[in-house]
Amino acid sequence: MNKSDVDKCIEAGKISQRLREYIKEIVEPGRLLDEIADLISDKIEELGARAAFPVSLAIDDVAAHFSPNIGDDRKAEGLLKVDFGIAIDGFIADSAISIDLTEDNRHKELIESVELALDKALSFIKEDPTIGEIGDLIGSTIESKGFSPVVNLSGHSIDRHQIHAGITIPNYNNGNSNKLGEGLYAVEPFATTGEGRVYNGGPGNVYELIEEKSVRSPIARKVLSFIVEKYKTLPFALRDVEKEFGGMVRLGMRELEQQGIIQHHLQLVEKSHKPVAQAEHTFIKKDGEVVVSTKD
Ligand code: CO
Repeated sequence: MNKSDVDKCIEAGKISQRLREYIKEIVEPGRLLDEIADLISDKIEELGARAAFPVSLAIDDVAAHFSPNIGDDRKAEGLLKVDFGIAIDGFIADSAISIDLTEDNRHKELIESVELALDKALSFIKEDPTIGEIGDLIGSTIESKGFSPVVNLSGHSIDRHQIHAGITIPNYNNGNSNKLGEGLYAVEPFATTGEGRVYNGGPGNVYELIEEKSVRSPIARKVLSFIVEKYKTLPFALRDVEKEFGGMVRLGMRELEQQGIIQHHLQLVEKSHKPVAQAEHTFIKKDGEVVVSTKD
């Protein structure tokens, strides 16, 4: 990354910080997830950026990958994870917060455990540890608070226009003795009172383009050209497409999915159906320095 690329990462990070404050203001128990998703995407546009992926609003044992459909009557409750990505010219800031919406604040300690693990990991990364050592610190911090890290979810390297770029930052010691090279990364501890594994659950309503092929029906053709033009390989939500074409679009989406042109991301659900908390920040590693873009 050159200086101007880094500047764009920092700018995306600043917008992410403003979004974080905004999210805390608008999320309240009983508010429709559909409405929260709209408010967040409108705010991102208002601040001159675009969403790097559809905002995920995952509740309790759903750890990640849930976007409400238009008209969805689900409401904010329980332990809500808001995971959102900001892109400036393809340079991404990926960040997440967990909000406890229960009356008795029963998830407070679980949330504190991921926040502590994240803080410690970000300080530790400045000392240039191995990837396994970072995972070890995250996992042991969560365990020291009496919870389990979710071992099959992880932080990741980020490329321009690409949210998951191949390198994994685990939430446990996976024995990887490599160090992180220069680049952009997200670190995202997940903790649970359950077993600490997620599986693919029901539809998460988030898709991404796999391969462009010719399609038969006019509606599928129209949807495909919209996706190619607007999202390319970035994930998008069913709600984004429905806003453009209306409810009829589901037929076209089904055709694209059956043809292997788009892929549906399923909800990631904790195996023992216990609540999951998440914290996440993005950092830039360059010239031996580590700058957290999504945090002051
Ligand atoms: Co991420």
